[in-house]
Amino acid sequence: MTTLSILYDRLRWEEKELSEKATELGVTVKVIDAKALKLDSHADTGLQQTFGDIALQRCISYFRGLHLSAYLESAGQRIVNSYKTAHICGNKVLTTLALRRAGVPTPRTMISFTAEAALESAEALGYPVVLKPVVGSWGRMVVPLRNRETAAGMVEMREQMNGLMSQIYYVQEMVDKPDRDIRGIVVGDQVVSVNYRYAPPGEWRTNVARGGRSEPCSLNKELEEVLLKAARAVDGGILGVDCMESKDGYVVHEVNNTVEFRGAASVSRNDIAKAMIQYVLEQAKR
Ligand SMILES: Nc1ncnc2c1ncn2[C@@H]1O[C@H](COP(=O)(O)OP(=O)(O)O)[C@@H](O)[C@H]1O
Ligand SMILES: [Mg+2]
Repeated sequence: MTTLSILYDRLRWEEKELSEKATELGVTVKVIDAKALKLDSHADTGLQQTFGDIALQRCISYFRGLHLSAYLESAGQRIVNSYKTAHICGNKVLTTLALRRAGVPTPRTMISFTAEAALESAEALGYPVVLKPVVGSWGRMVVPLRNRETAAGMVEMREQMNGLMSQIYYVQEMVDKPDRDIRGIVVGDQVVSVNYRYAPPGEWRTNVARGGRSEPCSLNKELEEVLLKAARAVDGGILGVDCMESKDGYVVHEVNNTVEFRGAASVSRNDIAKAMIQYVLEQAKR
């Protein structure tokens, strides 16, 4: 019998769902709070006792999950997703570069390191543009810059912030798209669900965490190929691929490493959590 650990820092609906599905599939589940772990560099053998045959990393905190993955992977513990995938997906600069390198259509983005260069990047792209934190989620601090005054003000505010990455500027062309975007959930080499996300009233971002509404969407060949290619570009695993419908076709703007899927599950015909657990079990056998 396989033993699976689910590593979390806050138990959401998703972790409970995954844990229930795994139990249903006859797996022994250990739900482990990453906040209580004390990882010893010199006691990194026999970890299977604690973490089971395979670990599913589901921390909300990118940096917490990343360091935990690094430790476990380096100790030879099987873990989903890989450290590499977590590393790329948690950082929008690295994601953009990986997508671009793999030939996945993605919005044009300028990366710069000072307020002055950031403002020049916005001008070079042409307003409106979108300024995003390099590390972040739930649409937090993702801001549309519609003119020079606002751009200069936002960049000035970022200059005053103390975050480790506050002065790495990620400025992206604003994609001309309908009031929705598309969330695909990729598990291994399969798209297990795809749905539209509509922004709530008075909001331009579609994040479910901001009140975005999930609606069914049907999968076509082109969309499937883009979603799978994006997942491969970040080294694969269990992923939430976000894309937009631009005038020139689909463009992928983000790949999520510890994907939330409550919204997707509410409109999907497939059992998303079950597909995820089955994938993890396959990985445990490899
Ligand atoms: N380049 C863009 N053009 C138009 N809308 C965008 C663009 N980038 C992001 N958005 C909107 O903002 C939301 C949040 O941006 P995203 O890059 O996914 O950041 P987060 O990681 O915080 O979810 C997206 O779901 C989308 O609705
Ligand atoms: Mg997003």
